[in-house]
Amino acid sequence: MIQDAPEYYEYNTRDTVVHYGLRSGQNQTAMLAMSILLDIIKPKNIIEFGTGTGGLSVLIGIWSKLNGANFRTYDNNDQRLYAEIFNKLGIEFICCDVHALHGDIIPHIQQPGVSLVLCDDGNKHQELEEYAPHLKPYDYIMMHDYSRDLDAYNSRIKPKYWDWHESSEFAGTQLGLTPVYERLLEYAVWGCFRKEQG
Ligand SMILES: C[S@@+](CC[C@H](N)C(=O)[O-])C[C@H]1O[C@@H](n2cnc3c(N)ncnc32)[C@H](O)[C@@H]1O
Repeated sequence: MIQDAPEYYEYNTRDTVVHYGLRSGQNQTAMLAMSILLDIIKPKNIIEFGTGTGGLSVLIGIWSKLNGANFRTYDNNDQRLYAEIFNKLGIEFICCDVHALHGDIIPHIQQPGVSLVLCDDGNKHQELEEYAPHLKPYDYIMMHDYSRDLDAYNSRIKPKYWDWHESSEFAGTQLGLTPVYERLLEYAVWGCFRKEQG
């Protein structure tokens, strides 16, 4: 009988996960949910806005290498912790202000195949509004620290799973976006939106 398992999981539910030696800005639920989501939507082009210390990038990088996806991660601060592991996995890191680099990022989104854009830096709403118009039909854009239901966030998620909340507004209708996979992502505190046709 494993005596310490419940306490272990109780203790760790809010902690950010360290992945292959690199800390992420994600709880355990988010790492698992992201892995499941990648297997469901099978993106061909993936962009992460906000590399941070690289923990989530490693998960996406491994998935991309195994599945032949193009993956780029952007941050305006190069922490250099991840250079060796990024090189091994072929992860492309670009140091820039994502709000000032439309000309480089948009062609990457518009390559053939499903694109997935992860907004996880300083101003996630601004990124979503800037880049959603450039998605192709059936591409996806995601926003971290998002809970559609603020009451649910305050009562169930904040006390136990995640202490950051940036948005409950779904401003996507005008941008042709539909929220998807809400149950999968609720405790991961991510919103995922699919671009609809036309
Ligand atoms: C929360 S961390 C990212 C966490 C990472 N996605 C993960 O899950 O491990 C946010 C990052 O966004 C970066 N950032 C903030 N504003 C930015 C901007 N305008 N352009 C590029 N990166 C930015 C910060 O330097 C910081 O490293």
